[in-house]
Amino acid sequence: MRSTRKTTSKDDVTMQPNEPKTIAMKLDGRSSHFVLGPLAGLELARFVPHPPPVYIIDEQVAQRHPDWLKQIQEGCDHFEHHKLVLPGGEAVKSLAHLETIYRWLADSNVGRDATLVGIGGGTILDLVGLAAATWKRGINFVALPTTLLAMVDAAIGGKTAINTAGLKNPVGVFHPASGILADCGFLTTLSLGAWRDGMAEMIKTALIGDPRLFAHLHHSRDQLAALLSEGDAEQPVPGILGALPWSEWISQAAFVKADVVNRDFREQGPRRALNLGHTLGHVVEAWSHETDKPLTHGAAVSIGMAVVFRIAAERGTCSVPTAVQVIELLEACGLPISYRCPPAAKLDRLLASDKKASARDGVRWVLPRKVGLMDLEGRVLADEIRKWLD
Ligand SMILES: NC(=O)c1ccc[n+]([C@@H]2O[C@H](COP(=O)([O-])OP(=O)(O)OC[C@H]3O[C@@H](n4cnc5c(N)ncnc54)[C@H](O)[C@@H]3O)[C@@H](O)[C@H]2O)c1
Repeated sequence: MRSTRKTTSKDDVTMQPNEPKTIAMKLDGRSSHFVLGPLAGLELARFVPHPPPVYIIDEQVAQRHPDWLKQIQEGCDHFEHHKLVLPGGEAVKSLAHLETIYRWLADSNVGRDATLVGIGGGTILDLVGLAAATWKRGINFVALPTTLLAMVDAAIGGKTAINTAGLKNPVGVFHPASGILADCGFLTTLSLGAWRDGMAEMIKTALIGDPRLFAHLHHSRDQLAALLSEGDAEQPVPGILGALPWSEWISQAAFVKADVVNRDFREQGPRRALNLGHTLGHVVEAWSHETDKPLTHGAAVSIGMAVVFRIAAERGTCSVPTAVQVIELLEACGLPISYRCPPAAKLDRLLASDKKASARDGVRWVLPRKVGLMDLEGRVLADEIRKWLD
């Protein structure tokens, strides 16, 4: 079974059910296509020049979607598939798991012309992307994002990374997936916690590049709160897919991300806006990993966004009502908006390790001016962090 394809433009963001849509990007001279739709996985063969590919799959996804995975794989290869299943979650982004993948690629005789397919959330895709980027000096990579966060953010734009030395994402390279196949059917089994995390990145994307999407999300905050504000973070959210226009929202957010990375792949300018909430987010995320209650990436980004909006509102560089709306929406999605501040020396060390910091200019923050307009050269004082983080 194959579906028709259509290439999106910014004004063309509504879609018919079952009709995949494609956003085309040119990243570092290489084409990268984002395909969104309930049957997007069936497009896999298009992005695999030399079948069969090899697959690395998130354990949860492998357990919960075996039939669908089989169908996707059969579109490329009717024989035995080389498949490695790894547990998703931040801990997988490690040197040890990268080593596991290299050994498995060697055992599977994966050559220079092969395709590595990553199927999972942002953590699996960051790790598998890095493996694809470095194996035999770079092989074709295709991503099937299975979380909301990965669909609207992590899978798009070619950043890969692992965590090491107590830091978040310090090791990675740019290696865009040739195909990003976002299949909303995977989201039926997503846990409440993962929906919340995805909302943090979707809100961020709307804030930097799509005031209309932000207004729509804010307008829907009561329905979002009914679905996301309370409940067991480990459990799926029954009925959520049909309750709100997720495909449209994912399409709109993906368009913003694709547009930004298309214009600035190497993060010299506009792409830095995507770090809204991330400078402080990475600090609290790394800091929380030293406790027995580590924050997820989405939760940390939510805290980071809430703090920079409070700082900007207090300085008068962003309107107070905008900051209030942002915080209302984050809270409606069950996301945290404050956190215990690290001790001064720790805060300094974690800020200094920010990947975006330069020796000459120090840490440059993304500070909001209004929805859709960010200051990319912002400065924030430690006192302001202490005041608004706790
Ligand atoms: N490369 C980038 O540009 C970029 C951008 C944003 C975030 N990220 C990274 O993404 C990571 C966070 O990604 P995430 O929020 O997707 O987390 P994740 O990959 O840890 O997934 C969350 C949980 O959901 C499970 N899961 C995945 N798909 C599922 C499904 N369909 N049904 C049920 N369970 C499922 C996973 O096993 C995991 O336990 C962070 O490490 C962050 O740094 C990268």
